[in-house]
Amino acid sequence: MNDNYIDKITHGDCHKFLGELDNESIDLFLSDIPYGICLDEWDVLHSNTNSALLGQSPAQIGKSGFKRRGKPINGWSQADRNIGNEYREWCKTWGALVYPKMKKGASLFVFSGRRTMHQAINAFESLGFLLKDMLAWKKQSAHHRAQRISIVFERRGLNTEAQKWEGWRLGNLAPIFEPIAWFVKPYKIGGTITDNILENEQGAINLDECSINGSSPTNLLEFDFRANEKRIHEAQKPLSLIEFLIKLTTKENQIVLDPFIGSGTTAVAAKRLYRHFIGFEIDELFYKAATARLNEEMKGLQYQTESKPLRLTLFEKQETYHAIKSLKRMRIKPRTA
Ligand SMILES: C[S@@+](CC[C@H](N)C(=O)[O-])C[C@H]1O[C@@H](n2cnc3c(N)ncnc32)[C@H](O)[C@@H]1O
Repeated sequence: MNDNYIDKITHGDCHKFLGELDNESIDLFLSDIPYGICLDEWDVLHSNTNSALLGQSPAQIGKSGFKRRGKPINGWSQADRNIGNEYREWCKTWGALVYPKMKKGASLFVFSGRRTMHQAINAFESLGFLLKDMLAWKKQSAHHRAQRISIVFERRGLNTEAQKWEGWRLGNLAPIFEPIAWFVKPYKIGGTITDNILENEQGAINLDECSINGSSPTNLLEFDFRANEKRIHEAQKPLSLIEFLIKLTTKENQIVLDPFIGSGTTAVAAKRLYRHFIGFEIDELFYKAATARLNEEMKGLQYQTESKPLRLTLFEKQETYHAIKSLKRMRIKPRTA
């Protein structure tokens, strides 16, 4: 029953709730799902056998650049080579629950990591979704860490090697984009996309509404956080990006589903655009912070429509304050991977 979940963020594991939604009722799936790159506890989606993960090595203590220990691509054990397969299977567990809930011809925007996206795509294709396009969200800047190998050798007293490798680094190029896979749920074989638009109101895109400086947008999406946008979640996405994707594929009053809602960006964007949303969040702190953010936003929207001054109750102010403080205490930083 959608009524139990509509226009609120529900706390808990989305696997518990997705099956309860009404079949063929969702107009857009838009979710920045965990990338499976061990960014934080909520992102560890494999059977981890090493307690060092997300901890600090003795060499890292006191260094600001490397606060948490991530697994190298090479892995720490043979079991780590299976991380990709386990991530794909995890995507299938909830993807299978989402499939019957989507309207025919509806869009699904799935954010994932550059190194793990192919597994999410594979999972979604095996469930019956069709890959329509690949979008790239281009960030304004990228945190870049690439350690000088000569310094590592110098620390080991290997001065000849340090000279030989001067200028070489360990690392990647600056990660300036994140991929977004755009899927659709198939409509009936033999039907046409225009029939499907008539039947299900799904299949068209609103380019006029989404033009950027008068031109049609491309699949390279350059959006940034607005100056006054509160940052709550280490993997938070800019409201402008999420608003763009919602406007592109839905009409007012249609329903957007985000089962991994984090700080509630999809909820806020949907309400700003007069759409409905259904959102789930497993982590209690994020759930509280997202709910407080949404409440604050709803007061603002009420203010806009009724021209009344914005007033948060003392309880709401405290709830927002405490949720953000707890996250700060956890030293949450924007995603750098
Ligand atoms: C990448 S973050 C989403 C960030 C979000 N786009 C934003 O702007 O704040 C993914 C979120 O999914 C949550 N999560 C992970 N597994 C979950 C599950 N099984 N059910 C519900 N939420 C889950 C995590 O706690 C995390 O907050």
